[in-house]
Order: sequence, then C-alpha cells, then structure tokens
Amino acid sequence: MPDTPPKDQPTIRTIAMPADTNPAGDIFGGWLMSQMDLAAGSVAALTARGRSATIAVEGMKFHRPVKVGDEVSLFAEVQHVGRTSMRIHVEAWRRQRESDLTEKVTEAIFTFVALDENGAARPVWSAGV
Ligand SMILES: CC(C)(COP(=O)(O)OP(=O)(O)OC[C@H]1O[C@@H](n2cnc3c(N)ncnc32)[C@H](O)[C@@H]1OP(=O)(O)O)[C@@H](O)C(=O)NCCC(=O)NCCS
Repeated sequence: MPDTPPKDQPTIRTIAMPADTNPAGDIFGGWLMSQMDLAAGSVAALTARGRSATIAVEGMKFHRPVKVGDEVSLFAEVQHVGRTSMRIHVEAWRRQRESDLTEKVTEAIFTFVALDENGAARPVWSAGV
C-alpha cells in the first residue's frame, strides 16, 4: 500500500542532486536536515512575523533513504505556539524522478524561538522585526 503525503501544498519542494551525497552515493542526512530546517524556519518566520531561530530538534527519524534525482517535498506545520517558541512538525517525502510513487523519508519536531532586533527571545505574538 503506497504512502500518501499530506494534502497541503509542500512548504518547500526541491531535487536531490549529486552534490548532496555522502561518500556512499546516497543523499547526506545533513542535507535533508537543512531542508527541513529551512521549511520549519519559513513557517516560523511567517507565524512570528519576523526573525526566529532554531533552538531544538526532537525525534528526528530517517525512515527511508533519499536517492539522487528524487523530488523531495517538505511539509511543515505549526503544532504548538508557546510564549516565545513555536513547535513545528516537519515531514520530508520523496518521489522518484520517473514515478508517481511517494514515501515519507524523514520527520522531526523543530522548535523555533522568535527573536527581537538584539537576537533575544521575544513573544511570538509581538510585532516582528
Ligand atoms: C534562541 C535564544 C535567543 C533563546 O535564548 P533564551 O532566552 O535563553 O531561551 P529560553 O531558555 O528562555 O527559551 C526560549 C523558549 O524556547 C524553549 N526552549 C528552550 N530550550 C528548549 C528545548 N531544548 N527544546 C524545546 N524548547 C526549548 C523554552 O521553553 C522557551 O519557550 P516559551 O517561551 O514558549 O515557553 C538562544 O538560545 C540562542 O540564541 N540560541 C542559538 C539559536 C541559533 O543560532 N540557532 C541556529 C543554530 S545554527
């Protein structure tokens, strides 16, 4: 039974390229984590209407490998807004370049903190910078 990705539009969609591989020729986990951080950061900036930074990543699990040429879609969704922090659930899905079959490859919870102009934590719902 094929996996079904979230129905929403992805936050980010990109192609895994040869420059993103590890020495074994598979896509480097750090590349995928950076794509997930970018997706979460985009949602955090919009939610906080301003600058924000990653303070923690929890529950990172690599379910399946990503291969060169895969189309990688990142789905980021706010799970909880605290005083200064935002918990954002991120899933990464791959689609083989010449197939319409998709599978979830990675997921994690990214926590972002809204920042003021000095880089200190500020309430999420205050005016952004
Ligand atoms: C973001 C930063 C300014 C916050 O500093 P701080 O004021 O000492 O942070 P606090 O301890 O008050 O925590 C701020 C919020 O993060 C939450 N938080 C702190 N540590 C956390 C953790 N390990 N996991 C989840 N949430 C955490 C706190 O609960 C708080 O949330 P709330 O206000 O919604 O209740 C500071 O940690 C920082 O600059 N970190 C580096 C960020 C960065 O450069 N990220 C990119 C990495 S390359």
